[in-house]
Amino acid sequence: MIRINENFTKLKASYLFSDIAKRVAAFQQANPDKSVIRLGIGDVTEPLPGVCIEALHAGADELSRRETFKGYGPEQGYAFLREAVAKHDFQARGCAIDADEIFVSDGSKCDCGNIQEIFSGDLRLAIPDPVYPVYVDTNVMAGRTGANVDGRYQGITYLDSTPANGYVPAIPSTSADLIYLCFPNNPTGAVATKAQLAAWVDYAKRNKAIILFDAAYEAYIRDPQIPHSIFEIEGARDVAIEFRSFSKTAGFTGTRCAFIVIPKTLKAYDTTGQAHSVHALWNRRHSTKFNGVSYPVQKAAAAIYTELGRRQVREMTDYYLGNAKLIREAVTSLGLSCVGGENAPYIWVNTGGDSWAFFDRLLNDAQVVCTPGAGFGRCGEGHVRISAFNSRDNVIAALARIAHALKR
Ligand code: MLT
Repeated sequence: MIRINENFTKLKASYLFSDIAKRVAAFQQANPDKSVIRLGIGDVTEPLPGVCIEALHAGADELSRRETFKGYGPEQGYAFLREAVAKHDFQARGCAIDADEIFVSDGSKCDCGNIQEIFSGDLRLAIPDPVYPVYVDTNVMAGRTGANVDGRYQGITYLDSTPANGYVPAIPSTSADLIYLCFPNNPTGAVATKAQLAAWVDYAKRNKAIILFDAAYEAYIRDPQIPHSIFEIEGARDVAIEFRSFSKTAGFTGTRCAFIVIPKTLKAYDTTGQAHSVHALWNRRHSTKFNGVSYPVQKAAAAIYTELGRRQVREMTDYYLGNAKLIREAVTSLGLSCVGGENAPYIWVNTGGDSWAFFDRLLNDAQVVCTPGAGFGRCGEGHVRISAFNSRDNVIAALARIAHALKR
């Protein structure tokens, strides 16, 4: 008899953003005359930078000619992209990362979800709360947790991010083997200082642990004191893996391209205590299960590292940060406190009440979609996340509607 992976039965019925999409679809069906503005899921709205469009066309043209046609590419990504990433994203910031430590993929969601596969099934996990749900759910699927009791899975050390700690979780007093961190943070928009990251690197070293550092929103950092990569911290090469994405940096949510950085010095251990290269394990997994990102898409991704590409990316991220500023100001003027939106495209609003009720209120009374904080974890209750990813006109219209609805 075919049997299921029963770990899946521990999960909530559906993924947070699918849940929200269903509620919005139901609302739209019941109210076909009302236009909904989406500031929920962090999906970009602005067209790809011009350099990317040109590179996509050029890549497609190459595929149209026998002499330049390409079949399977290297699973790890084309050298031209890996070299550009290593040079501009890391070496330029003083991080000793080489091109062959970069694995190109079709998205950070997949990378963050898949990476746990190469580690033991009985690891001790430390995961922030609130958090991007993929970190928790994929570990639940893999059987690393117990049941969900009162909104929390047994077996996870939750790292609380609250108003009291400025939404940057403290180092736990207990040991963990695999630690998830995300800065600039999704959902709170909080950023971590060098000293805070250095404390995590030190903790990981003491525990022979690994930090999974999600830096998908790095391009939104404007404060020059804030590190863009965990590899800016001394010693991080021995304890960290970093996830980066072109989705929010260059508008690739639909185009799909990301990468993961695994230093060759990073080790994990077997039951006898023997050290193994994590890079080699991931390379084995990646080349078995993945056949690379399409050539034109990698060409488009590489184009953002040209001088013009960098300018265009800056313009695009500035545009969304301009939206974030408007959202922050509007929310504050309504008497609600918020964080984020300065070095991140998300604004984390402290509503003080039930977050799904607030979500419903905005949907029903303002036809604006936000993301209820409770969907990101227990500490997210009392908050909602507002995304800056939309056109300026839509953000301005949404804020006017929210103001009207909340003043009623
Ligand atoms: C979010 O809204 O949290 C993100 O768009 C989700 C993702 O990047 O997968």
